[in-house]
Amino acid sequence: MKNLVISFICFLGGYLLVTAQDNIIINTEGRNTVSLNGIWHYIIDPYETGFYDYRFKERRENDAGAYWNAPVLKEKTDWTEHGFKDPYPIQVPGDWNSQDRIFTYYEGTVWYQRSFDAPKVKKAEDVYLYFGAVNYETHVYLNGKKLGMHKGGFTPFNFKIPKELLQKTNNNLVVRVNNNRYPDEIPTVNTDWWNYGGITRDVKLVILPETFVQQYHLQLDQKQDILTAQKKKRFTISGWVKLNQLVTGGKVSVQIPELNIYEDYEASGDSVKIALQAKKIELWDTNNPKLYEVIISYNTDVVKDKIGFRKIEVYGDKILLNGRQIFLRGISIHEEIAQEVRRAHSKQDAVKLFGYVKELHANMVRLAHYPHNEYMPRMADSLGILVWTEIPVYWTIDFGNQEVYKKAETQLKEMITRDCNRASVIIWSVGNETPVSDTRTTFMSSLVKEAKQLDDTRLVSAALEVHYIDGVNYVDDPLGAYTDIVSLNEYLGWYGALPDACKTAKWETKYNKPFFISETGAGAKGGFHDVKEMRFSEEFQQWYYQEQIAMVKNNFPDNYTGLSPWILMDFRSPRRNNPEYQEGWNRKGLIDDKGHKKLAFYVLQQYYKEIEEQEKQGDRK
Ligand code: GCU
Repeated sequence: MKNLVISFICFLGGYLLVTAQDNIIINTEGRNTVSLNGIWHYIIDPYETGFYDYRFKERRENDAGAYWNAPVLKEKTDWTEHGFKDPYPIQVPGDWNSQDRIFTYYEGTVWYQRSFDAPKVKKAEDVYLYFGAVNYETHVYLNGKKLGMHKGGFTPFNFKIPKELLQKTNNNLVVRVNNNRYPDEIPTVNTDWWNYGGITRDVKLVILPETFVQQYHLQLDQKQDILTAQKKKRFTISGWVKLNQLVTGGKVSVQIPELNIYEDYEASGDSVKIALQAKKIELWDTNNPKLYEVIISYNTDVVKDKIGFRKIEVYGDKILLNGRQIFLRGISIHEEIAQEVRRAHSKQDAVKLFGYVKELHANMVRLAHYPHNEYMPRMADSLGILVWTEIPVYWTIDFGNQEVYKKAETQLKEMITRDCNRASVIIWSVGNETPVSDTRTTFMSSLVKEAKQLDDTRLVSAALEVHYIDGVNYVDDPLGAYTDIVSLNEYLGWYGALPDACKTAKWETKYNKPFFISETGAGAKGGFHDVKEMRFSEEFQQWYYQEQIAMVKNNFPDNYTGLSPWILMDFRSPRRNNPEYQEGWNRKGLIDDKGHKKLAFYVLQQYYKEIEEQEKQGDRK
C-alpha cells in the first residue's frame, strides 16, 4: 500500500531526531562492508613524538617526522625515526593491555597502522571508515591526511573518506589512540575497572550510495494500550528514518513483510516520520523473543534489520512488559573475558557471557558501566534477555563543568542512536553512584530529560545513593524524583557490618516507583574455602547471598522489582590490591577468572529458579 506522507524535518512526536552532529551509521551489520580487523602494526609513543615536534609543537600535516606520514626511505642517506613493521604486531579488535606484558598497565598513546586496498565501489558510491569503539581519544589519518577525531571509549563513530584521498592500493591508515585519564572526561580519573586502551572493537569500511539511510528508530507506539490494540487488532509502529543528507525528493520505503507492511514515504529534508499499522503483532517477550525482518530503503540504499516490537512501562510501582508485570532476575556484567584477561568484543564472547547468564536463570543483564559492544544487545534481542545499558558517568565526575556535561550528553546520544532498535534494551542509565549535590543532581537530571526526549520507548534510571539515618537504609536521593525506577547499590554485609546485619535491616524509600537493587555483592577468591566468617572465602560470599536473599524476601519494600547483583565474573581493577585474595582483581564475581563457579553462584541460581517456577505457576505476587 502506497502511503504518501508529507515528510518534515523537525522534532517528531516524542522523538527528537538525532542532531546533525551525530553522524553514526547504525546497523553496519546490515550493510555492504569490508572488515579491517586483523593484525595491524603499532608504535608505543609515551612522549607523543608522533604528534608533537621536539619543541612540543603540534606537527604540521606534511611533517616527515609525523607518524601519520609513511617514512620516505629511498636513499641510504634518508633519515627517519619511526616506522610500522612486522615485528610490532597488534590485534584489532582488542585492547592493547592483554596483548603483551609491556602494555599491561600502559596508559598513554599507541599508534596503530595498517594498509588496505580500496574496495570495489561504483562511481556514485562513497566509502566510510567505521570504528565500533576506541578507548579513549582517537585521531584518524589516511594517506597522510586527517579524517577526524573522536573522544569516548565505548560508542561507535565513522568518517567519510574523500574520494580523492582513496588510492586503488596500499592506503596508509594510521590511528593515534590515547587512553590517559583526566578529571574532566567521561569517565573521570577514578574507576573500579581496568583502563583497557586501544581499538577495542571492530573496524570496517562501509560502502554506501551518496544518499543513504543513516539512522532509524521503529518501535511500538508506547502510548497505545496493548490489550486494546490486541482486541481491536490495530497496532501502531511509529518512529523515524534519517538520511545522511538533505534531499528534495526520492522515496523512503519501510517494509515488514511478515506483517504485510509495505509503506512508501516521499522524502524531503533529511528525515521522515513513520507510522505503520498492523492487525496482529507477535510481541517481543522474554519467553518469546520474536524478531521481525525490517527492510528500510531510500532509492538504491537498502538496509535490513531484525527488530522486536514490545512495550515497556512503569505502572505505579511495577514494571510492565507488554502489559504484564515483570520481575528482573538480573546480573551485572563488565565487558571482559576474565579467563583471557581482556575486553570482550566478539559474537563468540557474547555467546560465552550469555551462556553463564542463562545458566543462572537470569532474565536481565546490567551492562556496566558503559555501553558494551553491539553483539551484546543484539544477542540479548535473540535470547529474550532484558538489558540495562549505561554511560560511564561514574563516581566523581566534574559536574560543574558544562564541557563535561556535553561529553556525557554526546556519549548518551551515541549510545541511544546505536541501540534504539534493540527491543531487549529497556533501561538507559545515565550513571552510577554519583555523590549527591545540587550541581550533580542538575547535571544528572538533565541527562535523564535528554534520554527521555531522545527516546520514549524505554525507562531511564541511574544507580542512586543510599543513606543511613537512625538505623534505617533510606533511599531519598533527589535524582530519584526524575528517574522512572529507583535503583540503588547496596553492600550491606560487605562494606560495613556482616551479612547477618541483613536480618534486622530496615529499608525505606520516599519514592512510589519500582525499587531495584542495581548492585549487591561480596568478594571471594575462587577455590578458597574456610568458615563463613572468613572474608574472601567462598563460604563468606555464599553466606552474604543467603542473607541478602532472605532480606529481600522477608523485610524489603513492597515495590521491590528485582536485582542485578555485582557481578557475574571477577574482573580486573587497579584498585584491588589485597596480595592474598585480589592481586588486581575485583573478586565479587560469582564465577572466577578461571571460569570456576563459586558457591554463591548456586545460591542466586536457586533463588532465580524459584521465582521462575512461581511465575510459571502464576502464583508470584
Ligand atoms: C560500586 C561500583 C562498582 C564497584 C563495586 C565494588 O558499587 O558501582 O563499579 O566495582 O561497588 O565495590 O566492587
